Amino acid sequence: MAAFQRNDRFFTKDWIITLPSRPEPNLKFIRLTPAETDAFVRFAEKVVIPSAPKSTEAPFAEPPSSPAPIPGERMQKNYADSRTRHHALDVYMSLEGKFVGWGAIYQITRPDEKPSVANVAIRLSPEIQGKGLGKVLLQVLLRLSNEVDVDIIEAGTMKYNLPMRRLAKSIGLVETEENKELPGRGVVADILFKNIEREKWRDLDMVVEFKDQVVSKEMDM
Ligand SMILES: CC(C)(COP(=O)(O)OP(=O)(O)OC[C@H]1O[C@@H](n2cnc3c(N)ncnc32)[C@H](O)[C@@H]1OP(=O)(O)O)[C@@H](O)C(=O)NCCC(=O)NCCS
Repeated sequence: MAAFQRNDRFFTKDWIITLPSRPEPNLKFIRLTPAETDAFVRFAEKVVIPSAPKSTEAPFAEPPSSPAPIPGERMQKNYADSRTRHHALDVYMSLEGKFVGWGAIYQITRPDEKPSVANVAIRLSPEIQGKGLGKVLLQVLLRLSNEVDVDIIEAGTMKYNLPMRRLAKSIGLVETEENKELPGRGVVADILFKNIEREKWRDLDMVVEFKDQVVSKEMDM
């Protein structure tokens, strides 16, 4: 297999990704930039992550959101820092011009910590859930995770989040029952998809339009 060449432009430029395989008109995966902060915050407020069913004895006083909403400020900082650190990418899914989904890959270990780990997070608007679009967004993120300069890619969810677990299983991610704690946030996941084999998504067929040029996989990616 030819060596994979990371493409710095995913960090230094803004871009729009389309998938030749998807029939939906105007389904786009767009780099989230500070210009969309308001739309992002409105979206994050309206998308509810399932909480623990009442019958479940959850070990938490409050069901944690997993992953926690990334406030606009954090997204903006990731966007600015990622130009040089290549440690994070935020993407929004646009369907017929509407902001219908968000996904991110972001380093969760300290800059000096080894091995470095990045988490993959995903959320969809309620009205488009269950139509296969979560699966597509997650695959785009896993393709992009190959560009991120970290050692390990992982994802996590809660046991009761069956849609997320089924989505992960449907693309072949393997579950481990293990608590994930983050400083200041407590337990954020009790199911982990550890050490995801991101290489599997390197060849995802996508067309990337960088801000000032169009580059397809066949040309130079
Ligand atoms: C979890 C989430 C991203 C899944 O995306 P989605 O678009 O609804 O899922 P898809 O339609 O792509 O389905 C993918 C797989 O999961 C299954 N699935 C999805 N939702 C399901 C549900 N509610 N019940 C059972 N199975 C479900 C599908 O059948 C499909 O499996 P298959 O390919 O084997 O048939 C989406 O529901 C969501 O954003 N939820 C709220 C936020 C959230 O919980 N994010 C995850 C936090 S860790």
